[in-house]
Amino acid sequence: MATIRIRNTGEQLVDEANIRQFLTDNGVYYDHWSLDAIPAALHNRFQLDDAEKEEILKSLAPQIEALAQARGYVKWDVVAMSEATPNLDEILKKFEQIHTHTEDEVRVMAAGSGVFIIKGKDGGYFDVELTAGDVISVPEHTPHYFTVTAERKFVAVRLFIDPSGWVAHPYDDPAFTQA
Ligand SMILES: [Fe+2]
Repeated sequence: MATIRIRNTGEQLVDEANIRQFLTDNGVYYDHWSLDAIPAALHNRFQLDDAEKEEILKSLAPQIEALAQARGYVKWDVVAMSEATPNLDEILKKFEQIHTHTEDEVRVMAAGSGVFIIKGKDGGYFDVELTAGDVISVPEHTPHYFTVTAERKFVAVRLFIDPSGWVAHPYDDPAFTQA
């Protein structure tokens, strides 16, 4: 289950109904999936070869296909990151720049955890911390970035409407609060 921290006030949301309402109010799609279909041998694994990534996609196929059909995604893949990822710090530094896309950014957290930092409708930023099973979509043109939590590892499914058009446009925002 996701949790939310509002940067301007320090307020934390942990109640599921409040979290869902807050995300809906900010135009952010949110859902939570059961991951029971993922084979036990792939649980809590953060270094995955292509066949293992395929197996995760296959095990989640009914949920992925329903989401894709409902929201227009045509392609999906799996990304895994951990301390074992070469140049992890460099990659994270690149991640941690506020940007926008011309299409929405959808992620299914399949293992581990991660955070989306998103610009809210009131102009302030909020953090959505995701754990396994959380599904989120940051709307198109909404400033945001993604990073890891203290455990620095996650496996996520990404879905795309047009993978070739999924480009990050930097967004320089003086209103952004770093901490
Ligand atoms: Fe993004």
